[in-house]
Amino acid sequence: MSLKIAPSILSADFARLGQEVSDVMDAGGDWVHLDVMDGHFVPNITFGPPVVVALRPHSSAVFDCHLMIEPCDPYLEAFAKAGCDIITVHAEATKHLDRSLQAIRALGKKAGVSLNPGTPESAIEYVLDRLDLILVMSVNPGFGGQAFIPAVVEKVARIKRMIGNRPIHIEIDGGVTPETAPALVKAGADVLVAGSAVFKGGKAEYAANIAAIRKACT
Ligand code: DX5
Ligand code: ZN
Repeated sequence: MSLKIAPSILSADFARLGQEVSDVMDAGGDWVHLDVMDGHFVPNITFGPPVVVALRPHSSAVFDCHLMIEPCDPYLEAFAKAGCDIITVHAEATKHLDRSLQAIRALGKKAGVSLNPGTPESAIEYVLDRLDLILVMSVNPGFGGQAFIPAVVEKVARIKRMIGNRPIHIEIDGGVTPETAPALVKAGADVLVAGSAVFKGGKAEYAANIAAIRKACT
């Protein structure tokens, strides 16, 4: 699978989010990463389905929705209808992971599961056939701009072995930079989320920032 960069709009200017989405995708982003936080599962609050609805006309790219909310099941339909293409739930935020993943696919969307840094990959061993994507957190979720946790590189390699030849994306989220990205890709990651590393320096730098991550990995 070819490397994809998913800019996280958590680091964008929230007062002009539509324009930010369109600018960062014009600058070479592949997927739009949407960080949804509830102030309960994670210690921060961001946005919900109405904001996704408002952003949808600003890009035709894949909307990659990372739900950091607990419970998640009651909101899956709203995020699907809002225009998300991939819906990722946290293994730690649902009591019945298999059911949550089935529900996402029943809504016609790609299903992802995310693992916090402290959650072992064995948590998803029995749902691999329900998955389109595994989102490996390389920081504790809740905020942009945190330092990368190096133990994640080995975890990615173990997950890559575990999924075998299943067509499942391995996506990394947190502290991704041109310095941390290459080892992750080598270990098997094919989608890199980046917030601060993409949005730093303002619009004029977005293309160079994205290109720098891509270049470091090739
Ligand atoms: C953290 C979010 C990330 C965050 C990454 O909870 O899930 O997507 O925006 O930000 P950076 O790339 O700055 O670590
Ligand atoms: Zn995220």
